[in-house]
Amino acid sequence: MRPFPILFIGDVVGFVGLRALLKELPGLKEQFSPRAIVVNGENIVDGKGLSEKEADELFAGGVDVITTGNHIWENWKARPLLAANRNVLRPANYPEGNPGRGVTTVTLQSGVSFSVVQLQGRAYMQNIDCPFRAADTILNKLVGKSKMILVDFHADASAEKIAMGWYLDGRVSAVLGTHTHTQTADAQILPEGTAFISDVGMTGPYDSVLGMKKDIAIRRLLLQTAHKYETAENDVRICGAFLVLDEESGKAISIEPFMTPRPRTTTKE
Ligand SMILES: [Fe+2]
Ligand SMILES: [Fe+2]
Repeated sequence: MRPFPILFIGDVVGFVGLRALLKELPGLKEQFSPRAIVVNGENIVDGKGLSEKEADELFAGGVDVITTGNHIWENWKARPLLAANRNVLRPANYPEGNPGRGVTTVTLQSGVSFSVVQLQGRAYMQNIDCPFRAADTILNKLVGKSKMILVDFHADASAEKIAMGWYLDGRVSAVLGTHTHTQTADAQILPEGTAFISDVGMTGPYDSVLGMKKDIAIRRLLLQTAHKYETAENDVRICGAFLVLDEESGKAISIEPFMTPRPRTTTKE
């Protein structure tokens, strides 16, 4: 068994989320000693997508692969970035003709390779191609290429995420949910060795509704009309999962979700 530690960071929201992450990365590296870092960056620029500038900052901070999601398409600057950079992914199962790709294989200086795959769910989301069949097609192509395969499953419904975990159990190292911005309490290693969590949670402002200013989010619900979302600013937390994979078998050894700093759960402090 050769342990390979990986840090996976959940949806970074706003420049406040990006700044906080870049500031905390050295500390996180010291704490976890990851050999690879993957970050979901779909919400960095005003909650929608990212451009080359923010991607470069993340790569300079030691990030190996950036995944995204449904919000990436709302930022026009993201399209040339997706087309140009192999390590900035978008969900693989969008219709053909869109720029970018949903899978990348990174070979580290040590010669070790790992792949990252991104897929998007369809329940309560765009009616794109089947993520399960897209996973099959991609995994067939990855045979013999890399044993360690991480899947970012960007989906809304827990049922679809859990189903994907079971569908890929034993075929990939980890299925990590993103998109709902709320960390779930179901992290586990499935029977055939795949690490799973429905959602790793958000890196961004928690004095908010999923990263957006709470008064605007409440007004939208109360009035049932459009009000432009704005990224919130306060109570910024870093959220993600720390994984240890076995380099030899590609199976997961452990998964540990984290949120830093922890939220207040008692007034007796
Ligand atoms: Fe998101
Ligand atoms: Fe999303």
